[in-house]
Amino acid sequence: MAPDEHTAAPATVRRVARADETVRPTAPRFEHHVDARGIGSATPRVSWTVPAAPAGWRQAAYELSAERSGGRLSTGWVGSAEQVLVPWPGEPLASREEATVRVRVRGADGWVSGWSAPGAVEAGLLAASDWVAVAVTPSGPVPDADLRRPPLLRTELVVDRPVRRARLYLTAHGLVQAELNGVRIGDDELAPGWTVYPHRLVYATHDVTAHLRPGRNALGAWLGDGWYRGRLGFDGGTRDIYGDRLALVAQLEVEHTDGTRTTVATGPGWRAGLGPVLSAGLYEGEVHDARETPGGWSLPGFDDSGWQPVDVVDRDPATLVAPDGPPVRCTQEVAPVAVTRTGRGTWLLDFGQNLVGRLRLRVEGARGTRVRLRHAEVLEHGRLCTRPLRGAPSVDEYVLAGHGVEEWEPRFTVHGFRYAEVEGWPGELDAADVVARVLHTDMRRTGTFACGHPGLERLHENVVWSTRGNFVSLPTDCPQRDERLGWTGDIQVFAPTATALFDCAGLLSSWLRDLAHEQLPDGTVPWYVPTIYGNPQWSPPRPGAVWGDAAVIVPWVLHERYGDRDVLARQYPSARAWVDLVARLAGPSRVWDTGYQLGDWLDPAAPPDDPAAALTDPTLVATAYLAHSSRLLARIAGTLGRADDAQAYDRLSDEVRAAFRARYVRAGAALTSDTATAYALALRFDLLAEADRAPAASRLARIVADAGHHVTTGFAGTPVVLHALADHGHAATAYELLLQDGCPSWLYMVARGATTTWERWDSMLPDGTVNPGDMTSFNHYALGSVADWLHTGLAGLDALADGGRTLRVAPHVDPCVGWAETSLETPYGRAGVRWELDGEDVRLTVEVPVGARCTVVLGGREHHVEHGRYELVAPQLGAPRAADPEEVAALSPSPTV
Ligand code: BGC
Repeated sequence: MAPDEHTAAPATVRRVARADETVRPTAPRFEHHVDARGIGSATPRVSWTVPAAPAGWRQAAYELSAERSGGRLSTGWVGSAEQVLVPWPGEPLASREEATVRVRVRGADGWVSGWSAPGAVEAGLLAASDWVAVAVTPSGPVPDADLRRPPLLRTELVVDRPVRRARLYLTAHGLVQAELNGVRIGDDELAPGWTVYPHRLVYATHDVTAHLRPGRNALGAWLGDGWYRGRLGFDGGTRDIYGDRLALVAQLEVEHTDGTRTTVATGPGWRAGLGPVLSAGLYEGEVHDARETPGGWSLPGFDDSGWQPVDVVDRDPATLVAPDGPPVRCTQEVAPVAVTRTGRGTWLLDFGQNLVGRLRLRVEGARGTRVRLRHAEVLEHGRLCTRPLRGAPSVDEYVLAGHGVEEWEPRFTVHGFRYAEVEGWPGELDAADVVARVLHTDMRRTGTFACGHPGLERLHENVVWSTRGNFVSLPTDCPQRDERLGWTGDIQVFAPTATALFDCAGLLSSWLRDLAHEQLPDGTVPWYVPTIYGNPQWSPPRPGAVWGDAAVIVPWVLHERYGDRDVLARQYPSARAWVDLVARLAGPSRVWDTGYQLGDWLDPAAPPDDPAAALTDPTLVATAYLAHSSRLLARIAGTLGRADDAQAYDRLSDEVRAAFRARYVRAGAALTSDTATAYALALRFDLLAEADRAPAASRLARIVADAGHHVTTGFAGTPVVLHALADHGHAATAYELLLQDGCPSWLYMVARGATTTWERWDSMLPDGTVNPGDMTSFNHYALGSVADWLHTGLAGLDALADGGRTLRVAPHVDPCVGWAETSLETPYGRAGVRWELDGEDVRLTVEVPVGARCTVVLGGREHHVEHGRYELVAPQLGAPRAADPEEVAALSPSPTV
């Protein structure tokens, strides 16, 4: 097809047709799953994309065809342009039922596509009555906390008829790994993850068909303390949060070719023994004595007569739930970049990247040799700096069995580290003997960013690594010290960034269910979810702005990003309870000026031991957030068709906005807190009268400039400050702030060799020592929320609306980066932007997926386009700033930590 060319002065817009624009939808996906085996919905919603279509093509109808055991069923043509999360075709799935679904689409022109490839889905155990398995634990008294050796459990079964398929439904009180006939089942790690266990315990569905053999088989499981009974939380932490007994829930269902089913489930009759794991804690690390391995324990014929019987413990099967998203897995292996012998007879390993995971060893030595692995994120004075780990020792120990080459990786722990020190290694340690295995929830990567500034590219890469390291079954604050908690404020500010990098729909919607379970009856949202009661500072939870607002903002972000209305419906009572509570606390004044607030947590002016002592009045922050959350709640209500609620919360937001101005805005748009955070929130949350916006933005730009373009914001101001500047005519100042590399700034971290984003602007001080504050993580995502502006402002792709159906491309072009590009796999397909400066012109390439529409702002004009790839050229507007090549070169990371 010839390029469809037209000119819209001053920009030239050209649609570049693809060689093949034949319409053919992709294989359907179900809910937010990549792998839909064992899903928890009987009527999973169906989505597909149409990778290519000729200009002007629009879907007018779709047809789904489901292949099920009862035969084929088709929806017939459904007149609809929807292709994201459309209703399940036909009758609900039964438990265990498999189906494949194909889709075809019809364009407005009447042309009908071919059928897609099939997408496969399989229901898990959907009813409590499907569970025969009960939770079993080794019988006898529970030993003292310090002597609790994780148990092994086993049973045997006979397969006496041909097998059609076999499934293992598996979960535990604690962590679990299963083996069938000596072979590990699945590749998930730290299963079943952390949820509010009394309400929701996630089970996995494993296909074990290929593991079974005719005759005798053995099923075994390793258990570990994990979140269930391990020590969690700071100031010494709490043990046994959910119980003091580890227990296994396993149901192996073997379906035979003759239509019969053999079920082997945990219950009386299983046997429990001790294995080589002497202790394992998420914070502590793991001690494994290979001499203690009961050889062949998960093979048939093992003599377990010396093992103990089991007792049944309580577990309501109605609380066993299928996962909403992918499990934790090893997603990458990283080899050490340096192996150094220390003067202490140990080996220091540098993996070149601060990561989350654990080490795998290949080692050969005498029986009883003890190898100890210590972990740390940074070095101080050439040694591991373990002080930031606080109460998380993070030490693994392996005792060799001495039978040749042994391979080992801990099972039930995880660490945040870049460096490891190895003690007791027999002989010379070769780099090939140790590898770091990166663990996190195996989310699909959906977003990319690149630009002509190496420092910013590294910053972005650091944000990606901090997302990976902190999305370990739930969104956490840090992966290394004695927290790793689901702090609500952190994910609230980071959700727009996280969802632009990875498909977090499953993980975050699962976590939101837990948030609702943990919410107090009066609407208080805990500081972190799941909650740990016991620490007097944080429990019982008190309402705090920014943190509690996660109840409203995170569901809204999920809806905007993934087009998932159900998540809004499910979270609506929780979101409303939060806003209603804050409205009550604010009272008729509509100003929230009571109670305890963390405010603009960790702004750089706050002293190391008092991170809440920020420059910005915390009541201003709290009131701004009430105005914002009540506005979003009104939008949520509107989306759900609750017109009365929408009106009421809009009114509330208007009142709070008026109260904000009366209390915090003085003549000439001066805010009572003369800080970047105050102005940025007021602008970004649209709290100011129109006439005040320009003067407020000028004041914000002045404050930023007066600080020498160093950062002055904390958790509340950081995600919004660049948006507030750039959206109100101060993009050049936004760039100056972004590109500052002195302390404190984003690029200061990069200049200090950071490979993840830090908790504090100065987690590492300019003199190379570690911040003395008690709370100093090198892997925290909140300050990485700046990447949202890299995607939407600098590169200019804003896809945070309408589930990706409505896109806006409006880059802030600047010579100091020269070019930039970003892409996002939206529910409709890939959206992308690339701009580059070419002399006096800006060249822009925009990719819009089929089903979406895009407004492109370039050359001072708006261009409205539908799907396709577009090339635009326009003269650069405004006075170009000279690039400073020295500045760019100076920012290449140097390995100082
Ligand atoms: C966490 C934070 C959290 C904060 C609130 C810290 O220890 O790491 O990120 O939001 O506490 O008090």
